This record gives sequence, structure tokens and C-alpha cells, in this order.
Amino acid sequence: MRSLFNRKGRKDSPTNEAPFQPSEAIPNHIAIIMDGNGRWAQKKFLPRVAGHREGMNTVKKITKHASKLGVKVLTLYAFSTENWKRPNDEVNFLMQLPVDFFDTFVPDLIEENVQVNVMGFIDELPPHTKKAVENAIRDTKDNTGMILNFALNYGSRSELLEATKKMAKKVQQNELTLEEIDEETFEKELMTASLGEFQEPDLLVRTSGEERISNFLLWQIAYSEFYFTRILWPDFSEEVLENAIGIYQKRNRRFGGL
Ligand code: FPP
Repeated sequence: MRSLFNRKGRKDSPTNEAPFQPSEAIPNHIAIIMDGNGRWAQKKFLPRVAGHREGMNTVKKITKHASKLGVKVLTLYAFSTENWKRPNDEVNFLMQLPVDFFDTFVPDLIEENVQVNVMGFIDELPPHTKKAVENAIRDTKDNTGMILNFALNYGSRSELLEATKKMAKKVQQNELTLEEIDEETFEKELMTASLGEFQEPDLLVRTSGEERISNFLLWQIAYSEFYFTRILWPDFSEEVLENAIGIYQKRNRRFGGL
């Protein structure tokens, strides 16, 4: 039997640890750091990009399931501002993936009433990637169900700096006073502003056993619940998502109160 203890000596989560209750609160906003594609491929003696391709299939599966469960926003960390440091071939593959994803999946998104949103420094993407995301946003803009929010060329520190610069400019131009700067006015400048009442993830998931945030939604996760699993992203399943939600449902969220 597989040990319940991981390399760090911590207990690993079996998938039936906290049975998910459809009748209890479903997190409105789930954000996922999809990690472990490369290791999944390496374990199978495949090139790293095979892991990314399989990871794309997992995105399709999890999008459909999250939408069925009634999740309002699913944010997926698909490419960080730091991922440009990877070898050119891998970066090129990752820039082609959104094209393939939307080419094959937009009809399903329309059928599921899912709306696509993309946050990140979109203007820095290669033209074919930028066009694919813009087309997907356009083609799903009338959908009223779950928002599938891709973080693409996204980095939270840069997002915060940009927001700060925009506010400073408004102050400089007398459009805003210092006294008017508060959490609400600041949030209007963040890349999550378009998510309205669901800007903050209720549940943040990271796969592959890594337990860090990697420059993801630093402002927005102030009160998020975290769920870490050793499962590699290509192996992530509907069952694991439900387990994460089951654990979330057992948490006592106090937002600093009692
Ligand atoms: C992290 O795994 C994963 C990424 C940097 C890319 C995530 C992309 C996908 C899951 C594909 C889906 C994307 C779209 C747009 C549909 P890693 O490569 O860091 O894995 P490792 O830590 O095992 O090397």
C-alpha cells in the first residue's frame, strides 16, 4: 500500500478524507496553481511538453466539472511572468496551447454557458496567442455561467505595481485624493476587477506537492483557504476537486473575527 506520508514526513490527503457535500457551500471562486506537468511526463519517459498537453486535457475536464458544481469563477495559472525563463521550445509550446485549447474547446464552453476571461500582460503575448484568447473572450462574452479565468503572462507583484502607478497617476492628475485611496479603490485597478463580487478566491489549490504561492494573486488570497495535494496536474480529477471542496466545507472561515 502507498504510504500516507510524503517525503517531508507529512500526512498525504487520501481523496475520501472529507466527503464532499453538494448541499453545503460550494466555493464561489476556486483558483488553481496547475503544477507538475513536467514531472508527470518525466515519470513516463516522455518530453516535458507531453505533460503540458495532458495538462490541457485536465483543464477541459475540470472546467466542465467546476461549472456543473456551480462554481462561479475558476482561475487557472497557465503561464507566469517568470515562465519566460524556460527553454524556447517549451515556451513556444506553452504559447501554442491556448490556441489548441480554444480551437477544440470553445464549442463546449458555449454549450456549458462558460465565459472566458484572461488576466495578465496580454499585449506581451505572441500575436497568435493573443488572437486566440481575444477570439475566445469575444465568442463566449454572452455566456452567463461560470467564468473561466486564465492567468496568462500573469505576475502578482507586477499587477500590484501597475495598480499603484495607476493610482499615483490619478492623484497626480487630481482625479483622486490620498484620502480616497482604500481597499475598494485599489481593487478597481487590479486585474481581477472585472470579476466583480468574486474577485477573491475562496479556495486556492496547488498540485504536485509544492506548497508555495509563486507570485499568484498576492492581494486577493488574503483570506483564501489553501489545499495542497501531491497529485500532479495531469492526474488531477473530478474526484480530487470534490475532495478539495469537501475539505473547504469543513473549514471555519473567520476573516479575522471570532
Ligand atoms: C506547471 O508545471 C505548469 C505550467 C507552467 C503550465 C500550465 C499549463 C497547462 C496546465 C496547460 C493548459 C493551458 C491552457 C492555456 C489550456 P511544470 O511544468 O512547472 O511542472 P514541473 O514542476 O513538474 O516541472
